[in-house]
Amino acid sequence: MEYLTLHNGIQMPALGLGTLRIFGKDAENAVIEATNCGYRHIDTASSYQNEKAVGRGIAHCGIPREELFITVKIWPSDYTHAEEAFEGSLRRLQIDYCDMLIVHHPVGDYYACWESFEKLVKAGKARALGLSNFSQEQIQGFVDRFEIKPSLVTVETHPYAAQNQLREYLKSQGIVLEAWYPLGHADSHLLQEPVILRLAEKYGKSPVQIILRWHVQMGNSVLPGSKSPEHIRENIDIFDFALSEEDMKEIALLDTGTQYKVFTDEMRQRYLNWTPDWDDQE
Ligand SMILES: NC(=O)c1ccc[n+]([C@@H]2O[C@H](COP(=O)([O-])OP(=O)(O)OC[C@H]3O[C@@H](n4cnc5c(N)ncnc54)[C@H](OP(=O)(O)O)[C@@H]3O)[C@@H](O)[C@H]2O)c1
Repeated sequence: MEYLTLHNGIQMPALGLGTLRIFGKDAENAVIEATNCGYRHIDTASSYQNEKAVGRGIAHCGIPREELFITVKIWPSDYTHAEEAFEGSLRRLQIDYCDMLIVHHPVGDYYACWESFEKLVKAGKARALGLSNFSQEQIQGFVDRFEIKPSLVTVETHPYAAQNQLREYLKSQGIVLEAWYPLGHADSHLLQEPVILRLAEKYGKSPVQIILRWHVQMGNSVLPGSKSPEHIRENIDIFDFALSEEDMKEIALLDTGTQYKVFTDEMRQRYLNWTPDWDDQE
């Protein structure tokens, strides 16, 4: 495993398990499988409606809590009572602090949410803070306004949308870029790009491993999501090789800025009126 150092000195495993759309026993087993094969970073969110199942995995995996890096995200409809919402997440996850606490979307009173987050850091309940799906201008608003700066920003990132401009800005602020949809949700077009297939052959790795290795060498934190034990094992087996500079440049040519998921203002307004159902699909 390789680690990224956050601006407050905290070490974060560069690769973590994504748990979006993984529910019940699948989510519990994915966490146990992942930790068995060396993952120490687990990403979840209240909106994934699987915190109880992920929490059972954390409770049963046998890894001491201090060795795990666990991310919690607060949903827009909870920003005005973020501390209460956070306590609910901790309870469902069966933990008493989190390593990364994230504002999930740029809509609603996200500054009020950050004020609550700062209190949670000071109370020792959250070790570092982050933003999800915020633009550069919005991120700068937090940098200018608050005592505690974001340590991490998570956005859709993969070879088709490498986020180089945002990464440069974040680097200048000492903020880590985290890649969600790192595999374009396993889009077959991306996985079968000729350059990816050629490099898979060259390095004796799978196309997914080439893409995940590209993320790590770009300096991204990367969160491949999987409920398959074989894929979970395959996805962490990327720390025994390195892509050459020329190969990294070739992958860079795939970057057209094309994202799979575009959030509209209308979608975000709807997020303000939706509350996750904790018992759903648990
Ligand atoms: N902050 C945000 O707004 C936000 C938004 C979206 C996602 N996320 C986070 O980012 C994580 C990653 O996103 P994602 O899970 O949607 O997309 P992803 O990681 O790009 O792709 C996941 C898909 O890839 C498949 N897969 C994984 N490993 C594979 C392998 N080795 N070979 C073939 N297929 C493989 C999975 O299927 P199997 O289960 O069959 O392996 C699943 O269908 C999420 O789980 C979540 O934690 C955050």
